[in-house]
Amino acid sequence: MRVIQKIADDFYFIERGWLNGNHFVFNGKNKVLIDTGYKKDLQHTLDLIRQTGLEPQEVELIISTHSHCDHIGGNRFIQELSGCEIGMHPIDRYFIETRNDWYTWWRYYDQEADFFTVTRSFADGDLVRLDGLELVVLHTPGHGSGQISLYCPQHKFLLAADAVWDGDFGVLTTRIEGNISPFLHQQSLEKLAALEISVIYPGHGSPLHDPKGAIDRCRRRLESFLEKPERLGRDQLKKIILYTLLAKDGFPEEGFFGYLQGTHWYHEVVDLYFGGRYRAVYEDVLEELLRKNLVRREQGRLVAALKA
Ligand SMILES: [Fe+2]
Repeated sequence: MRVIQKIADDFYFIERGWLNGNHFVFNGKNKVLIDTGYKKDLQHTLDLIRQTGLEPQEVELIISTHSHCDHIGGNRFIQELSGCEIGMHPIDRYFIETRNDWYTWWRYYDQEADFFTVTRSFADGDLVRLDGLELVVLHTPGHGSGQISLYCPQHKFLLAADAVWDGDFGVLTTRIEGNISPFLHQQSLEKLAALEISVIYPGHGSPLHDPKGAIDRCRRRLESFLEKPERLGRDQLKKIILYTLLAKDGFPEEGFFGYLQGTHWYHEVVDLYFGGRYRAVYEDVLEELLRKNLVRREQGRLVAALKA
């Protein structure tokens, strides 16, 4: 697997893992960065950007597909370094400007990020011109109210952000996004399914060369969540537990349940989907993550066995 791939003239895809969202670099006459990863891994992010030939201080514009911590972690640093503009959907712009650290996940999911200054808005149907490369902005809410995907009609590729991964998608946080979020996500998937796509570059994970199949699997997964809402709750517990272990470089097992109990999100998810059975649900979900080798025990610590 190549971490950095040139996917069009002057346009690069950088594949990260599950703590850091993937990046895109346009290094032509325009110098543009799409998504900046998680704050903790900023140095690695900057190294990868440099490998495309772009120096971080040359960046003119950062486009953020949405304002979750794993996509905006480098925004403030790079903006201070380069004086660049930052653009995102008007909804996410609003929540950044009003310093809503619940919406952006920082306080709700106990994550790390800095605020920054948004100078541009990218709404549905807007065109982003990077020299000769044109990207169409598509509003794809569900995972985040202001999430955008970017479609290139010329080369038929889609930067899907967290709307489509390989048969899965970014967590649906109904407490923040509202109970309507699975339905919004369904509409977003329909919108993407109507495009002529040759390859999807997801927000996390490797490029998807069977776009129709990938979107179909997302649709079916979402249908199964709607059929049994506890599945959505369990998916949320698994994803955020893994994400937490990645963000914190593991956690002493002895204190992990107590830690989760002190977060905003854990109580709410267990209350909403599992009748407040905090301890039993914790043990059950952890057992599944250990059994599937997504988490392992290392000298008294729980560690996520996923690429960060
Ligand atoms: Fe993400």
